[in-house]
Order: sequence, then C-alpha cells, then structure tokens
Amino acid sequence: MLLELKNICKSYLDGEKKLTVLEDVSYSFEAGKSYAIVGRSGIGKSTLLNMIAGLDRPTSGDVILDTVSYSNLSEEQLAKLRGATLGFIFQSHHLLAEFNAEENVAMPLIILGQAKSKALLVAREILNKVGLSDRSHHRPSQLSGGEQQRVAIARSMVAKPKMLVADEPTGNLDTTTSWEIVKLLQDINALGTTVIMATHNTDIVNSLLKRVITLNKGVLEKDEKPKGHHEKKESVAEKQETKEEPAKSGEEK
Ligand SMILES: Nc1ncnc2c1ncn2[C@@H]1O[C@H](COP(=O)(O)OP(=O)(O)OP(=O)(O)O)[C@@H](O)[C@H]1O
Ligand SMILES: [Mg+2]
Repeated sequence: MLLELKNICKSYLDGEKKLTVLEDVSYSFEAGKSYAIVGRSGIGKSTLLNMIAGLDRPTSGDVILDTVSYSNLSEEQLAKLRGATLGFIFQSHHLLAEFNAEENVAMPLIILGQAKSKALLVAREILNKVGLSDRSHHRPSQLSGGEQQRVAIARSMVAKPKMLVADEPTGNLDTTTSWEIVKLLQDINALGTTVIMATHNTDIVNSLLKRVITLNKGVLEKDEKPKGHHEKKESVAEKQETKEEPAKSGEEK
C-alpha cells in the first residue's frame, strides 16, 4: 500500500453556511497501479486530489503516504515530502510564462537543490521522451495547448516521483492529443509509478485505468474495475493496435 485516505472530511464555510465537499472518504491506493477518480463537475475531485498531494488539508481525517501521516507534518515538511515523492499535473498546466520549456521542466530539481546545469540536462532528456526535444527553448506562449500540457507532464516526472497525481490532464485538448497524453501516463505507470487521475473522459476510464473511484455527494460511492479491464499489462503498441478510434472528447464541464 502506498497511499491511504482515512475518513477524509472537507468542508468550506460559505458565509454562515457550511458546504461539505468530502464526507468520510476512506481508500487505499496500491503502489504501481493506476486509478481514475470520476464524478460530476463540482463533486470534489480536485479537492480530493489536492488532499492527496498535500496541497490542502482535510477538515478532519488523515492522508498517509508510505507510513508518513500528513497530519503530523508542518507545511514545510509536507512541501518537502511532496517535492521528493509526488508529481502533480494540474487542471490547467501552471507553467511559468517567463521560463522556457526546459527551465520549467527543470524547476522541481532546482527546488530540490540540484545544480541548474545538471537539472537542465535531465529536463532535456525528459522533454525528448515526451516528444518535445525541438521545443525545449520555447516559452509556454510559443507552444500549443497540447505541447504545454506535455511540458507540464515532463515537469511532473522529472524528479522521478513514486506517484503522479493528474487533475483532468486532457481537459482542454483535442482527442488525438488527449490520447497521446494518456498513453504517456500509461507508459509512466508501466514503469512503476502510481497514477491517480481525475477525468470526465469515459473512454479513457474504460480503456486505460485499472480502478475507478466514483465520488458522489461527497462520499465514495463505488470502487470498480472499468469495462474491458485487462489484468495483463499491455504495451502502448498493443494498445494502439486494438484501439483504432481516438477517444471522444470529455463531457462538457
Ligand atoms: N476554496 C473554496 N471555498 C469554497 N468552496 C470551494 C473551494 N474550493 C472548492 N470549493 C467547492 O467545492 C466543490 C468541489 O470542487 P472541486 O473543484 O473539488 O470539484 P471537481 O469535482 O474537481 O469539479 P470539476 O469536474 O468541475 O473540476 C465545488 O462546489 C466548489 O465550488
Ligand atoms: Mg476539478
């Protein structure tokens, strides 16, 4: 077991009114698997991912990552743990506009204290893996939406995280690019990184992810394997042969 959610509750105060987003969510994520978190817009997927990544604290309950309990950590310790263990792909990519692609990708390593020249070298290797070796000196404004998202994925992978948390990584992309991104995440998962992803795209859920967690009214409703699930790990090449049609674009938000 890699990550455990224990009775997570999260509520916000909206004036006098209390808005409960997550109500007693418990779940164990196993190392090396891939997971989809689904549920209608506003149900709390991003809220849950933010808890998992330690970017936000639950109102009550706890997150335990490899036996380390988040509730025992200071903000600084939590940030350190996050930097060393997790990669996060946001709903919008959050690239730094004033830096080029390789500098953006190198940033987590520089923050972890690695020398800039070495970090840039690693960044270039990763950009190569996501098919952007010829774009490494472009700034975000000079890249397409899909290219920017690939830079964000490269950045999330650069420090070799144990776990990748992705919030609608294909949200704003065309169907072909969406599949490329998902294949990339699948490759990362095949190399042993746990992937937890929130998505509206049912095709992605059905074909690629091993476990689906449905949030409904703040509670975990079900936990099931999607249709067409195969226990056997498939390579991307095999997947491409069996999957001729690209995914339909995700539901409207
Ligand atoms: N800081 C906040 N203060 C008050 N309410 C918030 C805050 N952050 C989120 N919410 C509310 O919590 C609920 C869950 O939001 P969340 O972003 O987790 O939904 P989601 O499932 O990710 O939706 P989407 O599919 O649209 O991304 C929403 O009703 C939202 O308005
Ligand atoms: Mg969201």
